[in-house]
Amino acid sequence: MIKKGIILAGGMGTRMSPLTKAVNKQLLPLYDKPLIFYPLSILMLSGIKNILIIVNKGQLSQFRKILPENNNLGLKIKYVEQSSPRGLPDAFILGEHFIKKDKIALILGDNFFYGQNLSSKLQEAVKLKNGARVFLHPVKKPNLYGVATINSKNEIIKIVEKPKKTKSNLAVTGVYFFDNKVVEFSKKLKPSKRKELEIIDLLNQYKKRKKLKAEFIGRGGAWLDTGNIEDFYNTSNFVSAIENRQGLKIACLEEISINNKWIGKKEIIESIKFYGNCSYSNYLKKLII
Ligand code: DAU
Repeated sequence: MIKKGIILAGGMGTRMSPLTKAVNKQLLPLYDKPLIFYPLSILMLSGIKNILIIVNKGQLSQFRKILPENNNLGLKIKYVEQSSPRGLPDAFILGEHFIKKDKIALILGDNFFYGQNLSSKLQEAVKLKNGARVFLHPVKKPNLYGVATINSKNEIIKIVEKPKKTKSNLAVTGVYFFDNKVVEFSKKLKPSKRKELEIIDLLNQYKKRKKLKAEFIGRGGAWLDTGNIEDFYNTSNFVSAIENRQGLKIACLEEISINNKWIGKKEIIESIKFYGNCSYSNYLKKLII
């Protein structure tokens, strides 16, 4: 069972500059919450409460303000700073002391997932015994992502980072589940042409050993982009449309925690005090009446 997760919340912040000059992208509002709430909610829905957040050097205090180590969410949060964006597998090198001998989930701080049965798929994925699991999802522009080609048995036969040409439309989404070998494999990776350690090279280490398994979000589920400003606002509008129609929030962290029985009424009251008088707090109030 995977009980620990890493959120990679650093990055260069070039694509959304000047918005990200002073504030990290993961702290910008995706509709009514900071972006990082969404990937964090995905780890929590998987049943993971032991979390390491990797942030850019110098940005730790920004993150601590909204997600303190000492929080009302029933989570054990730790932070590590990344001195420069060396690539996604750097998470497992920087996270070695956090991971210890355990298995680990990784989610990219800018990934948004939503859909029926998603929680149960995630809860299945954390049962991983060995190897690695990735979630695939069809996209119109696969060349922007890691792309997997699968055979008729849904086995991954090829996996490539941002291929110029590909017949597959299956992107590798930003949530990954690994056994403990991930630390050793990551340390052996060499930087690619763009001078980054590549997640695809890491996944290929598992594939080579026939230990890479594909899961599918399914076409009823949404995996949306927050890469550039246009995508960011479209995803924000998606959240707004669902929340305002249903009166239910996506990625309300306290709601997930209370449903997981990690916290009770007391912590919700503390959270309301923490956020102050706002619509998010009004929503929290409704959870405890
Ligand atoms: O979103 C899924 C895609 O994410 C995958 O399909 C690709 O295979 C994978 O390489 C990655 O591609 P991106 O080009 O979108 O990754 P990006 O460099 O934008 O980084 C994703 C997040 O991770 C972003 O929130 C910044 C953070 N990050 C990134 C790097 C390289 C870090 O915190 N540290 C880093 O060193």
